[in-house]
Amino acid sequence: MRPMIAIRDMTKVYHMGDIEVGALQGVSFDIMPGEFVAIIGPSGSGKSTLMNMIGCLDVPTAGSYALDGEEVASLVGDDLSLVRARKLGFVFQQYMLLPRQPALRQVEMPMIYRGVPTVERHRRAKIALEIVGMGNRMDHKPTELSGGQQQRVAIARALVGSPAVLLADEPTGALDSKTSVEIMQIFQRLNREQGITIILVTHELDVAAYAQRILTMRDGLLVEDRRN
Ligand SMILES: Nc1ncnc2c1ncn2[C@@H]1O[C@H](COP(=O)(O)OP(=O)(O)OP(=O)(O)O)[C@@H](O)[C@H]1O
Ligand SMILES: [Mg+2]
Repeated sequence: MRPMIAIRDMTKVYHMGDIEVGALQGVSFDIMPGEFVAIIGPSGSGKSTLMNMIGCLDVPTAGSYALDGEEVASLVGDDLSLVRARKLGFVFQQYMLLPRQPALRQVEMPMIYRGVPTVERHRRAKIALEIVGMGNRMDHKPTELSGGQQQRVAIARALVGSPAVLLADEPTGALDSKTSVEIMQIFQRLNREQGITIILVTHELDVAAYAQRILTMRDGLLVEDRRN
């Protein structure tokens, strides 16, 4: 089977005036289709940097990255955005919902940009909201939803494009522990029932425990790769 993600000798150097920060210092690993992977490690170890590379939000300084068989490390601009739209779904710690828009509209938004007709858009957005247990809150705006409910809407929004890979950086970082469990159960169900490859960054070991595999970063290096 072909890896969903194949990263080799990836480095990322940030320049801060005269100072160079080696955020990634030569990282290599594969992730197979359908895996559920957690990335852990101390603050500043390069987790978000790595996620930004995996998510095609930024490009590495050196190294290669094949996403679903396609070399993407050297893509720029629109080509990179296209890969993101076709293959990836994103969930963030701070939900990143639009203020004042009802849940249904939030989830429809990515499809509006891609020109999906209205009726089809509604249909798919409803299905996605039902999958995350928000079928009865479709008209609620973010201010009328709890943190956990807002994160569910964000997950639904990430799902409507039928991504091959779902990327989440600290998705439970702003949630209490009971709500975190509910969100992790949704990720687990999406992984098991729909076969979506999931990669998430977390500080919390009990969140990482939902993954099948745990990668540990330290000082820009992958220092441990273990089955859970
Ligand atoms: N845009 C940037 N410009 C300059 N340096 C950066 C930038 N982004 C990250 N860094 C540096 O790169 C290193 C890795 O940062 P990164 O955000 O990947 O860490 P992290 O593991 O996600 O940490 P945290 O757990 O606190 O979120 C840090 O030393 C950070 O200061
Ligand atoms: Mg981070």
